[in-house]
Amino acid sequence: EKGTYPHYMLKEIDEQPFVIRNIIQQYQNEDGNLKLEESIRQAMRDTDRIYIVACGTSYHAGLVGKQFIEKMAGIPVEVHIASEFCYNMPLLSQKPLFIFISQSGETADSRAVLVQVKKMGYKALTLTNVPGSTLSREADYTLPLYAGPEIAVASTKAYIAQLAVLAILAVDTARAQGLSLDFDPLKELGIVANAIETLCDNKDEMKKIADEFLSTHRNAFFLGRGIDFYVCLEGALKLKEISYIQAEGFAGGELKHGPIALIEKDTPIVALSTQKELDLNIRGNVKEVVARGANPCIISMEGMENEGDRFTIPAVHEMLTPLVSVVPMQLISYYAALHRGCDVDKPRNLAKSVTVE
Ligand code: M6R
Repeated sequence: EKGTYPHYMLKEIDEQPFVIRNIIQQYQNEDGNLKLEESIRQAMRDTDRIYIVACGTSYHAGLVGKQFIEKMAGIPVEVHIASEFCYNMPLLSQKPLFIFISQSGETADSRAVLVQVKKMGYKALTLTNVPGSTLSREADYTLPLYAGPEIAVASTKAYIAQLAVLAILAVDTARAQGLSLDFDPLKELGIVANAIETLCDNKDEMKKIADEFLSTHRNAFFLGRGIDFYVCLEGALKLKEISYIQAEGFAGGELKHGPIALIEKDTPIVALSTQKELDLNIRGNVKEVVARGANPCIISMEGMENEGDRFTIPAVHEMLTPLVSVVPMQLISYYAALHRGCDVDKPRNLAKSVTVE
């Protein structure tokens, strides 16, 4: 039940710190080490390439998951949109492992791929919020997301749960290979939970950004580089899906190859900068769009702020910034939709779980 909340989406955004804390508990042994089934560990050890398959927000989580697994565990990862995979199947490696990411566990496009790869004799792991769902039952292994029921069509808490579980999987795989990481995932996720809480206590600022900066525009663009780019894709999906503002996420460096032609006077640009080594580049891209009349809203991270930044997220480990930087995007989308009088929890033309291909 949504209790005193006007919408499930807002309630689910507010639940995010608890979701992270719950995941920390569920994936921790009594001795404080990570708790993962040995068979999953084995499957991660046995593979030479991981294929992540998902749709929508879960696909965006997969893009971040690729970074986690490649950077921490050193296993190559490809991320595929489920509905494209069947017709555009990549050349598979010798020992592929498939990871399906699905909040509902019922998405037909993903299931079609699972059926196909099982027929080919490959192993599959499903990350889902609904253990016992079709994608969970039909895969060899399941990692639960422990986010609790997600009712709003726009996925919020399931996304950060997907990221948290992917980070845990990546660290566990690295450790199983004897790689030493300067990274205690459970401690870092605890810091993430606190950071999300701080953001959820700061909703007025997000509402202001939505009301003053976005709500009356026909389109908006999200700019980022590296891992921030993936969060921008998710931010743009959130905004378009519930406010019907045409929103796109672009990689900062790609602007000059086409999208910059879209910039007009006052076009709203949300730019995200949480990665020190990319900071100068993305700020350079912001200058390029401002020179063409765009109205920027720069979201950076504590310790990296510059004059003129609209908002800073609390500092967290560099790898885990997507779990935190997505929260202002969720809230801005929510308030923009509210401002425009949209049906936040049930946007037009969309269903919570898409059970047709
Ligand atoms: O249940 P799934 O995670 O498989 O759903 C995938 C997409 O349909 C879903 O993430 C969709 O994009 C959301 N409405 C996004 O907010």
